[in-house]
Amino acid sequence: MKYSRKATAALLSGVLALAGMPVLEPSAAEGDLLVTDFEDGDVKAFSKRGDDDTSVIASCTEDAHGGTSCMSVTERSQGWNGPSVSLESLGCKPGVQYLATAWVKMKWYNTVRLSMQYTDEDGEQHYDNLAQIKSDGKWVQIPETKFSFTTGMKDVSIYIEGDDKADMWVDDFSLTAAPVYPIQEDIPGLKDVYADYFKIGGAVTAKELSPKSTQDLILKHYNSITLGNELKPENMLDMKATLAYYEETGDNTVPKVKLNGAAKIILDFCREHNIPVRGHVLVWYSQTPYWFFTDDYTKEGKLVDEKTMLKRMENYIKGVFEALEAEYSDVDFYAWDVVNEAWEDGGTPRLKGKYEDSNGSSAWVAIFGDNSFIEPAFEYARKYAPKGTKLYYNDYNEYMQGKQEAIIKMATDLKAKGLIDGIGLQSHLNCTNNATTDPFPYAQQYESALKKYTELGLDLQITELDVTYDKSVANGEKLQAKYYSDIMDAIVKYKDYISAVVFWGTTDDQSWRASQNPLLFDEKYQAKPCFDSIIDGISYTTTASTATTKKTTESTSETTETTTKSTETTVSSEKSSVSEPTLRGDVNCDKTVDVSDAVLLARFVAEDAGADITETGKLNADADGKNGLTGDDVVTILRIIAKLET
Ligand code: GLA
Repeated sequence: MKYSRKATAALLSGVLALAGMPVLEPSAAEGDLLVTDFEDGDVKAFSKRGDDDTSVIASCTEDAHGGTSCMSVTERSQGWNGPSVSLESLGCKPGVQYLATAWVKMKWYNTVRLSMQYTDEDGEQHYDNLAQIKSDGKWVQIPETKFSFTTGMKDVSIYIEGDDKADMWVDDFSLTAAPVYPIQEDIPGLKDVYADYFKIGGAVTAKELSPKSTQDLILKHYNSITLGNELKPENMLDMKATLAYYEETGDNTVPKVKLNGAAKIILDFCREHNIPVRGHVLVWYSQTPYWFFTDDYTKEGKLVDEKTMLKRMENYIKGVFEALEAEYSDVDFYAWDVVNEAWEDGGTPRLKGKYEDSNGSSAWVAIFGDNSFIEPAFEYARKYAPKGTKLYYNDYNEYMQGKQEAIIKMATDLKAKGLIDGIGLQSHLNCTNNATTDPFPYAQQYESALKKYTELGLDLQITELDVTYDKSVANGEKLQAKYYSDIMDAIVKYKDYISAVVFWGTTDDQSWRASQNPLLFDEKYQAKPCFDSIIDGISYTTTASTATTKKTTESTSETTETTTKSTETTVSSEKSSVSEPTLRGDVNCDKTVDVSDAVLLARFVAEDAGADITETGKLNADADGKNGLTGDDVVTILRIIAKLET
């Protein structure tokens, strides 16, 4: 019997259904919610954004993008004026992912934005930009954008706005439920692969955590979580309570702190699944409101003096740890970034100024004159952090020589005073650079920086790993896989100094660098070649009883170079050592033959890129004894499971 790809896919669906597993084909959660080409002249689903919005929204038959009608938005008096759609009125639900796109034309050169508005539990309004594109008087498409919202977010709407009040036209608007993709259950969990080396973690935001597939992905691969934004000062500071306390007491040294709903969503998840947390971040020039630094807690106020700021800093740090202790004392905050990104690449402090000025300026430096705020930050963190929480200095471009020297000098001083436990190396890397195939940094440069940091005698954590590639470079994804592999080789080489490797995100589409696909999983939760390349070279033996994987390193040369660990690692290259089948039908080599073997093989035959089978697995998979892996082998395995043959 011959199987076409299509027939094999059908067979695969059958096998998955048999196994009670979700099918791989996407299934729309709720279908189309609002899809209109405006040909019927109906624009009722769209409204202006409240009473202060002067937009006039109407049907228009002049120069539509498709057909003869579109929607016009005229008489806008502000950039933020524009057509808005209430998600609740369409029946949208928290935790579901949606896709939105539209064609838009602005009268003059303008940036068009698709944004989301919502009210939080405290009644405060928030505005998030979801996508943007430039229109210079011509029709442009707002790229299809995935988004979701969480429980606790009320009056959620999406809307289209521009830079200024120019007229706007909208056509072919589409808001649909995003397809739901299950994760791959038959690939090894990264946290298991690296169990003997270091924790494997990921950063996640509350919104990103909503879909079940993202939760499944995290549970399978990560044993450390970093909250992407929710513990940063801009989200922990409670401006209203801070002002109220100041007005009541006249004391302007006590910023008040409050755990926001979004942080709780992630922390509840960590508690429920017993996942340790990296706290991120206490003192940073960015994502810290300017009012935190001024005498009257307003954006316009004068910067306070050093003494006042030190008290504020102490009270803030104390407040953060107290708020977490009050509600999450049972969550393991095993690490905290105390100070983030204080050094410029050349090794000098940041410029004095407001971070809102977007030139990387720091209000901390504006007040202290230099980086002398770092040491007290560590002192206070040491004083108030729970016992057992390790304290880190965290930075990017950690391989740039000037910055590296500054960090090493600072850390040496802090270490001598017992204030610091480790360095967080963010590792936002680029495997291709400016449309060339030159990576930045070169893997050797990264490795020699790692080596330098190991000499500090402090713990190291890779805290925000992601690797972009330029999609216009031929073979970009392959280059990314190779580069990821080289970087991971360097990390493994220094594994005795490294306690966690954390990726900055989950799937490519949710990354802050989404357009350059920097993560291990694509938007369909499928492992990319870079996933394979970082576990390749590490062999696993699966213990049937626990179904977890245990690895041994492939090459001895690397382990002998690491100084502090004994030579306990066994040399076991799976590829070279196995040439015999171990159990007929045991495709995933877990020493049993069950439906997961049939599923894995069916996917492999259907050329599903994520269906990886080891060399031994392939030998086992040839169940009908004829050369080549086909649908017949799948059928034979199903017969073995059904005990129709042995
Ligand atoms: C920096 C910060 C992180 C995060 C990333 C980008 O590296 O440390 O908190 O903001 O940028 O998302």
